[in-house]
Formats: sequence, structure tokens, C-alpha cells
Amino acid sequence: MATALIILAAGQGTRMNSDLPKVLHKVAGAPLVHHAMAAGATLAPERVVVVAGHGAAAVEKAVRAYDETAAVVRQDQQLGTGHAVQQALPALEGFEGTVIVLYGDTPFIRAETLDAMLVSGADVTVLGFVAADPGRYGRLIATDGALDRIVEFKDATETERAITLCNSGVVAVEARLLASLVAGLTNDNAAGEYYLTDIVAAARATGHSARVVTCDEAETMGVNTRAELARAEAAFQARARAEALETGVTMTAPETVFFALDTVVGRDATIGANVVFGPGVTVESGAEILPFCHFEGCHISRGARVGPFARLRPGTELAEDVHVGNFVEVKNAILDEGVKVGHLTYLGDAHVGEHSNIGAGTVTCNYDGVMKHRTEIGAHAFIGSDTMLVAPVRIGAGALTGSGSVITEDVPDGALALGRAKQVTKPGLAVRLFEKLKQTKARRDEDRK
Ligand code: UD1
Ligand code: CA
Repeated sequence: MATALIILAAGQGTRMNSDLPKVLHKVAGAPLVHHAMAAGATLAPERVVVVAGHGAAAVEKAVRAYDETAAVVRQDQQLGTGHAVQQALPALEGFEGTVIVLYGDTPFIRAETLDAMLVSGADVTVLGFVAADPGRYGRLIATDGALDRIVEFKDATETERAITLCNSGVVAVEARLLASLVAGLTNDNAAGEYYLTDIVAAARATGHSARVVTCDEAETMGVNTRAELARAEAAFQARARAEALETGVTMTAPETVFFALDTVVGRDATIGANVVFGPGVTVESGAEILPFCHFEGCHISRGARVGPFARLRPGTELAEDVHVGNFVEVKNAILDEGVKVGHLTYLGDAHVGEHSNIGAGTVTCNYDGVMKHRTEIGAHAFIGSDTMLVAPVRIGAGALTGSGSVITEDVPDGALALGRAKQVTKPGLAVRLFEKLKQTKARRDEDRK
């Protein structure tokens, strides 16, 4: 069945007390609007329309970063959820199928729930939930799942307010029916807004059917405050950890591991304590992540062993059986199979050939203060400890650099490069020097008496 998404994201989010539009606040490293888009993406929608208002330019940029084909329409004045959907309809011109309306600030709707809505058999399907504390949610007036209407809290009678079956805001309606229902909305209500919720009563009045599909309250959790944002983060992490364990990832202290929305970890990978995944990380099956690592925008292949205390930044690719040890930072660098970089090293804008060994304290000096430059290291090279590789520079296959070298010129295949001052040794001089220093100190102590 063809589907399209409308994601409402025009609201200011006043209670966030923020200059940033609410839907750009992040959970699991991704703006809230990406979570809503990801929830809807499981339906493989033909079209995605996001309604933006407050901070529309920034929201549009974030939306496009997730899906460059998404349409972003403007709702300059927030006249209600029904009005917001009206703004989206021109972007759905010619679309035939079911439209699903989601909120940009409601990140946890599950794919299974949306699937259930699509097969409800009714013309209008509303996602409801039984609220522990119904508060100011809209109430669903329904009998055995057949929905008569939705009444907003502000407009509800005492009896209606006692109902605990609430409106999540998620609706599924056939596209043409939605357009005709939304066209008939008025703002004759307590809030003076065009309520999307009024389409239910309007559908019933014209002989259409409406049903409620229910989900767990946790799924409909919206974010309105920073406290709720923190709770959403905790909820996301709890779920992501459970899913990782379920899919065969070993974690010694799952409560200390933080995933991003798009983290992918393969079966039989092992993750130690206190590991943080930023956006864009994939870890293949069987890789071993030791404690206290921070990853972002990187790929870790099977057999690789990373950490403890390693930082992998965007553009890092570790091939199979690579070993990255403690206090190593890698950025925009490809490390081919079997490379070892064990300790205290920075590799940036680099390519390291297979089975090369990078000694402790090696630094690719990639930045000259204005531009970035690349370092190329061939296969089976041996970079001595404390080598400064001043880029752009190329170390040949099987080449060797002496410890403490500052390498500013290319090193051919198989060559040894030394770039350091020659050692000078003076026999007995240390003893004489210390004698002299001790005498000086003794004289000073005498003078002070
Ligand atoms: C809405 C529902 C209510 C439901 C609740 C669930 C209506 C009339 N009411 O109420 O039944 O229980 O959500 O959370 O639909 N938005 C726009 N443009 C607008 C108005 C809203 O884009 O003109 C967006 C907001 O940014 C937000 C979402 O739509 O993401 C919901 O709007 P909000 O004002 O929070 O609706 P509620 O009054 O909470
Ligand atoms: Ca709300």
C-alpha cells in the first residue's frame, strides 16, 4: 500500500526555553525530527512532507540532511494541527494512498504500531493510548475501538475528561478523504484553532468509519521540556541496549553504553563499559570494543580490537583485524587490514597500508594552520615511536622511520628515514655535573643561615 507522511514540526516548543526549535533538540545524537522521520521511514513512504514554522530554515536543513527528497512546507502562523495539515496537502498533489500524520516531537512510535494502523480497515484510524495521567490530552470517544469523535481537553465536559483513552496525535487517512475533511475544518472551539482531531466527527457524519488502534503510552511520549528530553534519551538508551543484547551483542555494563539513532553493531561484537556512540557508526560482527571509547562517523570491521580509551572520529575506516589501542585518536583515515596503532597517537587525513605498525606517540601533523594535508603510509611499514609525520608526506611500503624522527620528506619503499639530531655522549660528564650542582646548592644553603 502506498503511504505518505506528514510530520508536524512548526511549533515553537516554548517550554524548552530555548533558541533552538524544539524538533532540533537531540536524542541519541539525532534531532527529534529525525526520530519521527525514522519511525515513518519503516513504511517506505512515497512522499514525506514536514511542516515547519519556528526556525523553519534550520528545520528544513536538518530534514534534508536525513532525506533530501523530503518536502518542507512553511506554516508561518501556528493556527492548529488541522491548519498545519492543510499546508502540507499541496505537496501531496497527485499522491494516491494512505497519509500518516506524525508529530516531530514524538520520537518513539514503533513500526509495528504504524503497520497495525494501516490494516485497521477503517477510513480514519487514530492512534490512542490509555494514559496513566490523562492531563490535557484529547480524549477519544469510542466504543469497542469504533471511534465517534475526539474532544480536546479544553472543550471537554467533566464526564469526557474522566475518559483515560487519549489521542496520541498520529492519524492514518486515505489522501483524498483527508483533503476533503481538512478543507471543512473550522476554528470554532475553546482554543480558536483548526483542530485536526475534528476530522473524526466529520468523517463519521459523512458515512465514513473511524477506529482507534492503541499502543503503549511509552511509545507516544512527547518532548515538551528539557526534563522530558532527558527522559526521552534514557528511554531511547534503555531500548537500544535491550535490542543490542537481543541481537547478540555482548555488553559487560549495558547501562553505561550510549547508542545513537543510527548505530549498527553486528552479532557477537563485544562492547566494554562506558562506550559512547555518536552518529554514523557501524561495528561489524565479532569486533571487540574495550572500555571508555568514543566513536563518531566510523566503521569498525570484524576482528578489529579498539580501546580502551580510543577516539574514532568521522571518516575513520578500520579494516579487518586492525588494532587501535589506548589514547589513540583517528580522524578521516583508512587503516588497512592488520594495522597496529597501539598507544598515544594521532592519525588524521591518512591512509595506512596493511600490516603496518605505528609506534607510540606518532602524530600525523596534518594541519599547517590554514590547510589540511594527507599522510600516506604503505603496507608493512614500521613507524618508530614518536615520529612526527609532517604532511603532505608519503612513507613507502616496508619503510622504517627512526624513533623521534620529524619526517618532512617522502620516504621511498624499503628505506630507513632518520630525521633527528645525532646523539652525543660525554663519558663521566653526568657525575661531574651533579657534583657541581650539589656544591652550588650547599653554598646557597650556607649563605642563608
Ligand atoms: C494535540 C492533539 C491532542 C493530543 C495531543 C497529543 C489536536 C487539536 N490536539 O494537542 O488531541 O492528545 O496533541 O500530544 O490536534 N503543530 C504545528 N502547527 C500548529 C499546531 C501544532 O505544526 O499549528 C505541531 C506542534 O509543533 C506539535 C504537534 O503539532 O509537534 C502537536 O501540537 P500541540 O500544540 O502540541 O498539540 P496539543 O495541544 O498538545
Ligand atoms: Ca503537545
